[in-house]
Amino acid sequence: MRSSARIQVRHGRAVVPAIHKHRSVHESHHGSPPEREEVNGRDNRPAMTRSSWEGTKESSLFAAKRVFLYVSASEKHIGHRMTSGTLYQSGWNLDDVSWECFEPGKVECGLLAAVKSAALVEYNAPDYVAYLTRVFRDASAQTRADIEQWGREEIQHGLALGRWAELADPAFDFRGAFARFQAGYKPPHFATDDPDSVRGSRRGEMIARCVVESGTSSFYTAIRDAADEPVLKEIAGRIAADEFRHYKLFLETLHRQDEPELPWWRRLLVAVTRVSESSDDELAYAYYCANVPPAQEAATPYRRRRFGRAYNAQAMKLYRRHHIAKLVQMVAKAIGAEPRGTLARAASAMLWNVLRLRASLARGTA
Ligand SMILES: [Fe+2]
Ligand SMILES: [Fe+2]
Repeated sequence: MRSSARIQVRHGRAVVPAIHKHRSVHESHHGSPPEREEVNGRDNRPAMTRSSWEGTKESSLFAAKRVFLYVSASEKHIGHRMTSGTLYQSGWNLDDVSWECFEPGKVECGLLAAVKSAALVEYNAPDYVAYLTRVFRDASAQTRADIEQWGREEIQHGLALGRWAELADPAFDFRGAFARFQAGYKPPHFATDDPDSVRGSRRGEMIARCVVESGTSSFYTAIRDAADEPVLKEIAGRIAADEFRHYKLFLETLHRQDEPELPWWRRLLVAVTRVSESSDDELAYAYYCANVPPAQEAATPYRRRRFGRAYNAQAMKLYRRHHIAKLVQMVAKAIGAEPRGTLARAASAMLWNVLRLRASLARGTA
């Protein structure tokens, strides 16, 4: 099965009618709160539903404008390529995106498949917020507020990507796909009330979060660089900037913890473990739910290996060497290694080769 064969991108449509006719997109996403109850009937998003989303809308008074940000000292330390290009300020919302510039003829099917998957993963943020809130239940009010704000921004990433995917493929049902994803993807630490981090400590939890934010920052930067469609390029640029700020937030939170410093081997183990978890069901199942319509589920059942490779076939080809170098430098800094040291350079070269191998394997099997 080739995933692109199922994607029904409507090329050649007039741009403005394509947007204004798509009322469901406006009605479902245009500033409305993300309510999980709407998609699965369960109310398990108590801490950050309507009121917190409205808080985000208020912040739009300070709406994001395109700016060229000066490279901060910490960014210089990690690498200048991290901040190349246009960056965006925080506090943006869906109304700030130039949706009217959408060009359907510039949508690339493989990239669309990856974006649909990412939208589902991003929109699932409240489960992570609930988990992190438990882990940081005794933390300062500021830390808990930061976690809530982080979750709101991740939800917005999902909404922005989902809305773009529905513009690019009017047959795509973002909320329906998310409902299937949420019903089928339940990592153990989301399904319990265990208050402790699965990483063994709050420091370990923050290192794991830094790994994830390093990955998403690199991923959306790679999408921004690869995309020809201008609205996707803008959204990816906005999200990439958010992800880098999330990384810095969690790095600062890591260093604020009053727990004993983890030994070197433990920090490295947390990072390696978290990277290896990228091969679990999350991305593969998101790809499946986003790209296999419900009517085809019986004929095309979910297989982790198959759809993990299908995801890799689309995602891995986005990366260039400098994206991987940046990712590794960020992870190295999070575990206390020298971002430009020998270890980081060796890890960067190794990861680059692994990703190229994965991409070639995926191309042969997807
Ligand atoms: Fe995100
Ligand atoms: Fe993030």
